[in-house]
Amino acid sequence: MANVVVVGAQWGDEGKGKIVDWLSERADVIVRFQGGHNAGHTLVIDGTVYKLSLLPSGILRDGKLGVIGNGVVLDPWSLMSEIEKIAGQGVTVGPHNLMIAENTPLILPVHQDLDQMREEAAGKSKIGTTGRGIGPAYEDKVGRRSIRVADLADETTLDDRLDRLLAHHDALRKGLGAEAIDRAALKAKLLEIAPSILQFAAPVWKVLAEKRKAGNRILFEGAQGALLDVDFGTYPYVTSSNTLAGMAATGSGMGPGSVGFVLGIVKAYTTRVGAGPFPCELDDAVGVHLATVGREKGTVTGRDRRCGWFDSVLVRQTCTTSGVKGIALTKLDVLDGLEELKICTGYKLDGEVLDHLPTAAAQQARVEPIYETMPGWQGSTVGARTWAELPAEAIKYVRRIEELIGCPVALLSTSPEREDTILVTDPFED
Ligand code: IMP
Repeated sequence: MANVVVVGAQWGDEGKGKIVDWLSERADVIVRFQGGHNAGHTLVIDGTVYKLSLLPSGILRDGKLGVIGNGVVLDPWSLMSEIEKIAGQGVTVGPHNLMIAENTPLILPVHQDLDQMREEAAGKSKIGTTGRGIGPAYEDKVGRRSIRVADLADETTLDDRLDRLLAHHDALRKGLGAEAIDRAALKAKLLEIAPSILQFAAPVWKVLAEKRKAGNRILFEGAQGALLDVDFGTYPYVTSSNTLAGMAATGSGMGPGSVGFVLGIVKAYTTRVGAGPFPCELDDAVGVHLATVGREKGTVTGRDRRCGWFDSVLVRQTCTTSGVKGIALTKLDVLDGLEELKICTGYKLDGEVLDHLPTAAAQQARVEPIYETMPGWQGSTVGARTWAELPAEAIKYVRRIEELIGCPVALLSTSPEREDTILVTDPFED
């Protein structure tokens, strides 16, 4: 029986929430393995809208175990307020349905401060982060000065960790003209939240191994997208974690062989939030159409998303770097009614044709898309549950995408509603 990892194959916001929810019905355990509360998943279940940031999407279903793996950076206050918020919608979260890896590093208010101070100081060259402290928290992880979940259980360890952390941050803050951290207040805050977090703490790697042995199905829920990967994305305009499927293994403590089917989520056009290169970006009426019909506003920050045509060069590349076996194509209906559609099939750079995005930032900023034009369709694809319900041109568009990216469609999503999905391959059965 396969496990499944769901990852974004563009710049995030591909519609992972709905697909993860759809698959979570078939899974027993749902694991977040990277990122933090910079992610935003909107789920519509029976007409009710749920917005999740850090909680694994499966939390909304009875009898599922949600897991926050060590690859995540966890803001404990944000997590508790998210739990409180969905409790107000009738969803109870407790140790029976949520587990947090003991070795998960925490995001503290100092990380958020630093994220925001740096962005302000950067002026025009800012990254456009979500301001949640994600980057600084990952820096402290690799800098070996994080406070991790398990540290909350022991005051002596916590004291030691705070000393290390503050020695670093106070120096940084001084350079940025900010006040030193109030150590006593931070410690008190941590001790106050500790019991709420520790109730969920567990050796996740071990629990997952046992679950796998018992034949449970595990769904790994990626956040952001492959082009925001800290190694393979449009660096430095990226997030600070690995967003590729390979991270599911190290971000949860399972071996690479346990990850299973890699499902790449792909939007039928392209969007990105924040700064950085975007070869197919449109600033014309079509761009406005995509933004308006697609309701392209960030779930977390409320920022407008930049929109553009489908870029097969990028998706072919991310399907390779993530080892995608099949894609879930989302938001096809946003293209309904457009007279013609363009797909980027290559780039021009200094008189040469490229079949991939170059690594150098200066070149990424200069590549020009080569487009292929296809006829649009006038009928509606909204809510289609079989191929027969789709206009012929829409099917042709999907087939062309498959051909260009070299990867088949496993699922086609035709509205935000869960059941409006055409299933070609069940990733758990493949
Ligand atoms: P950070 O992850 O807050 O450090 O932001 C770094 C970059 O990743 C910025 O361009 C953000 O807009 C982008 N980003 C972070 N999380 C998401 C997400 O969930 N969806 C889309 N973009 C994101």
